[in-house]
Amino acid sequence: MAIHTQLTTLLDIDAPIILAPMAGVAGGALAAAVTRAGGLGLIGGGYGDPAWVERQWELADGADVGIGFINWKLSEDDRALRSCLERGVKAVLLSFGDITPFASAVKSSGAKLIAQVQTLEDAKRAADAGADVIVAQGTEAGGHSGQRATLPLVPAVVDAVGNIPVVAAGGIADGRGLAAALMLGAAGVMCGSAFYPCDEALSHDHAKDSAISGKGDDTIYSGLFDMVRGLNWPSEWKIRTLSNNFSRRWADQDRALAEHLSSIAAEYRAAAPGDMQTVPTIVGEAADLLTQRRSAADTMADILLTAQALLGHPPAALT
Ligand SMILES: Cc1cc2nc3c(=O)[nH]c(=O)nc-3n(C[C@H](O)[C@H](O)[C@H](O)COP(=O)(O)O)c2cc1C
Repeated sequence: MAIHTQLTTLLDIDAPIILAPMAGVAGGALAAAVTRAGGLGLIGGGYGDPAWVERQWELADGADVGIGFINWKLSEDDRALRSCLERGVKAVLLSFGDITPFASAVKSSGAKLIAQVQTLEDAKRAADAGADVIVAQGTEAGGHSGQRATLPLVPAVVDAVGNIPVVAAGGIADGRGLAAALMLGAAGVMCGSAFYPCDEALSHDHAKDSAISGKGDDTIYSGLFDMVRGLNWPSEWKIRTLSNNFSRRWADQDRALAEHLSSIAAEYRAAAPGDMQTVPTIVGEAADLLTQRRSAADTMADILLTAQALLGHPPAALT
């Protein structure tokens, strides 16, 4: 099963689907499964813990995977990135910050440089900095994002960055989303939420169940979980998750949070793993489309089959 685009040619893959580098969720096994199913699997290098990243490479078991890092954190410590480049990684995705300081090191290693951006201005900057692929991420996404929506952001980025392939991210979790993204001028999609409940994902079992029962209507875009996790995210990016008892309790309680942050954070840290009423289920508005736990290969096949059918036989409104 294959859909060929400018992206698949550039990356030498068969399916224009990239696994989002979900921190703590996209480990080596999930990334390898997506690569083996024809896409590009990215390990979620997240905040750049070298030992964790090393372990995930082993679990990828020789599959041709890439890795993603949170850019503003790399500026504090880039050891994990450097060891990946020495290893000869296929692709590096950088998101949430200026890619310029790392661009030449990534490109001269031979890896493809993928920049995930949240605004049109950042897309232009990434193009100027030499990105090989630009992911235009809308706020529908699970995890951190900016405030633009995928539908208008993607074609605007396509128009702005010339020949650089653009990948759509945020709210895409089935073949309809892939077909629609291609219609917007994207050369592929990057999906996170769609793979969160997969067998190979590192998400807790309760988190997978919660993602499947969750609804797009129930997502929140908030800085709360970063505050209690002690992560100093710059204010332009907040995190989309399902709401839960913890988020409902502290919604609109900025003053109480500021005054009692250390005890609230301690309560958060004391939660048992899998207590999804305290820790967040990190999926986006595509939660409605997550219907079952299954393998990453089955998820890939489902997306591709539907997209192929739609691209060959457009819905009645287009005919
Ligand atoms: C659980 C989770 C963790 C994420 N962690 C990261 C991350 O560490 N770095 C990153 O660039 N993006 C991260 N993202 C965002 C993804 O890169 C991507 O933009 C998003 O998943 C696309 O939207 P979707 O979830 O609707 O597919 C994460 C997303 C999820 C769902």
